[in-house]
Amino acid sequence: RYRDPSAADKMNPFAEQEAWEEHQIGKATLKFGSKNRKEISDDYEYVFDNQIDFIKASVMDGDNYNNEVLKESVEDLRTKSALEKLQEERKTLPIYHYRDELLQAVNDHQVLVIVGETGSGKTTQIPQYLHEAGYTKRGKVGCTQPRRVAAMSVAARVSQEMGVKLGHEVGYSIRFEDCTSEKTILKYMTDGMLLREFLGEPDLASYRCAILYSHINGFCSVGYSCLFNMAATFYSVVMVDEAHERTLSTDILFGLVKDIARFRPDLKLLISSATLDAEKFSDYFDSAPIFKIPGRRFPVEIHYTKAPEADYLDAAIVSVLQIHVTQEAGDILVFFTGQEEIETAEEILKHRTRGLGTKIAELIICPIYANLPTELQAKIFEPTPEGARKVVLATNIAETSLTIDGIKYVIDPGFCKMKSYNPRTGMESLLVTPISKASANQRAGRSGRTGPGKCFRLFTAYNYHHDLDENTVPEIQRTNLANVVLTLKSLGIHDLLNFDFMDPPPAEALLKALEMLFALSALNKLGELTKVGRRMAEFPLDPMLSKMIVTSDKYNCSDEVISIAAMLSIGNSIFYRPKDKQVHADNARLNFHTGNVGDHIALLKVYSSWKETNYSTQWCYENYIQVRSMKRARDIRDQLEGLLERVEIELSSNTNDLEAIKKSITSGFFPHSAKLQKNGSYRTVKHPQTVHIHPSSGLAQVLPRWVIYHELVLTTKEYMRQVTELKPEWLVEIAPHYYQMKDVEDTGSRRMPRGEGRAAS
Ligand code: CDP
Ligand code: MG
Repeated sequence: RYRDPSAADKMNPFAEQEAWEEHQIGKATLKFGSKNRKEISDDYEYVFDNQIDFIKASVMDGDNYNNEVLKESVEDLRTKSALEKLQEERKTLPIYHYRDELLQAVNDHQVLVIVGETGSGKTTQIPQYLHEAGYTKRGKVGCTQPRRVAAMSVAARVSQEMGVKLGHEVGYSIRFEDCTSEKTILKYMTDGMLLREFLGEPDLASYRCAILYSHINGFCSVGYSCLFNMAATFYSVVMVDEAHERTLSTDILFGLVKDIARFRPDLKLLISSATLDAEKFSDYFDSAPIFKIPGRRFPVEIHYTKAPEADYLDAAIVSVLQIHVTQEAGDILVFFTGQEEIETAEEILKHRTRGLGTKIAELIICPIYANLPTELQAKIFEPTPEGARKVVLATNIAETSLTIDGIKYVIDPGFCKMKSYNPRTGMESLLVTPISKASANQRAGRSGRTGPGKCFRLFTAYNYHHDLDENTVPEIQRTNLANVVLTLKSLGIHDLLNFDFMDPPPAEALLKALEMLFALSALNKLGELTKVGRRMAEFPLDPMLSKMIVTSDKYNCSDEVISIAAMLSIGNSIFYRPKDKQVHADNARLNFHTGNVGDHIALLKVYSSWKETNYSTQWCYENYIQVRSMKRARDIRDQLEGLLERVEIELSSNTNDLEAIKKSITSGFFPHSAKLQKNGSYRTVKHPQTVHIHPSSGLAQVLPRWVIYHELVLTTKEYMRQVTELKPEWLVEIAPHYYQMKDVEDTGSRRMPRGEGRAAS
């Protein structure tokens, strides 16, 4: 930021500076100081891309301040000193001392397991070292991250360190957002994106299958490698980072890259992890050598509560304030389970600190979670001004994926949000679950990176020792596998039971996924991919959503259905409800529900109304709609439109035929049907279970007899979120292999529906 210094000419901007530097550039004398932000007059304030110290600059040209010279000189110096400073910082990272050794090891071995504490520089430095050593001359260096935010923020950091524009030499690719170009040589991406890259072109896929079985089946061990080879030729190194997180996509990537490494001797494979159970990775990758980066770690004092906390959110807030008032300088990191909790905590903290007024030092509150807008994400990395304290309210993302410097205190309520899946019923739920010991230790470790730290666990020592699991169960063992099975099938991998999993999923879950894909007509009775399935696999969406889109072709409403799919993909961050204007916000929301059209159609109405205003921001404000979420929905929608073309579905609009739209939705979501009970609750039709309409639904007061829902969330009760009314006969019409007339008749007694457990495998 640059402000005209002449306005404050008379004030000496350096009066309260203890120290400053002077630089002579041409005619200009530049002075830089770095004291507390608050004491600096705004008129002389430059902020250096939030990574660099605060400076103020003033320039003398004869007796006058000269803005032009100042601007140019500062700009010059800014770039130079920022880069220099970052280069210096790079050298202070633990990994720096092992740079040459590491490059030697990469040179000597094809597969290398790399272990080092979080913050030692694995993610940001290794790809740069590889670039400096020439690996990018014959391909890209790809580095996968389990989390979107990590991929974005790390790419941003590395582009700064290299002094290039983000998206040019250094880029990132996450679902629905590709920030790379032809120049890109270091590519950060989510593990899911790399997996999708391997899917390649649909034509290529069929071409591959044809060759595969006629020529090289005996040569490739699993059979898909030739395609992967094509995608993989773009890479000279693939680094599967944060491997310890064991996300579903990472686990699947393991199997794929392991196989490909056998056929691409020139491809280097790095598996990097923050935890010490590297043996397991090494064993899996045919005894690959382990490269350990000794980390610096300071002692961390662990405190437990004497008795379990009834309300961990409140306990966490109280702890923050206690630390702030009683403990020496150092920032605080608090782990919460999700966005809603973080927003609540932020509000309460703001309220309470306001109450304390000037009696306490400034507390800077920085939330961080996956959906936080990018410009706000950068805030957590800004250095804390002297005299103030920063408190970072984070999800699991700060456990290992992101390193925030300066954290001295960690508050750990001991919970995280985790997917859980019941393979018997096929129901998936997001649950707030106690973390594992391994997680608790990782979290505690975040406080001891730059000096001795303290971790306040909001649970008892007994709890820790007796109740927590040793390790977090890998996602593959607790999730719905339909998506992965569809991906693997479209890669040409048929024998899933014998796929080289590091930890195989329960056979029951695999069968359930096959059944589901069969029910959705993505697989035939032999378990082979159908034409519908091939089309579905093109969409980076849950198979039910993909099916809904693919079927919309038949009902001539693909235009509407991709809007709905895009809006559903945003999650529940479309409407907002300011505390002081709840009634207005609720009324605005209800407007979209006129005629009890159901939540899906309401979402469509929101989207189309916004489109009619030519994507107006003002309109969003007036309707209490988050413009950022809408923009994201538009991006997603654009991409879905592109994918429609790819699978040869015409964009057709059928706005007034709500039944056609609802039938398309039903064709994807028929397994999610529920029927009203006498007491106002619902019962799911397959695998009967009691559920309720979520209070945020437009149908929460209407209670239609039959509904289909988008997803189940378990909070105080099992809730259906995004609900639409259904005619029961549609179920039989659309999914005759799944429902029979007797399932949907409104009589009292029900028998188990047919077709259960019958799908092909
Ligand atoms: O991957 P690993 O945990 O080993 O470390 P890293 O993510 O490469 O982080 C190395 C350093 O870069 C840390 O000191 C971070 O604070 C810094 N960093 C940053 O300032 N901004 C980012 N977006 C990412 C990392
Ligand atoms: Mg990392």
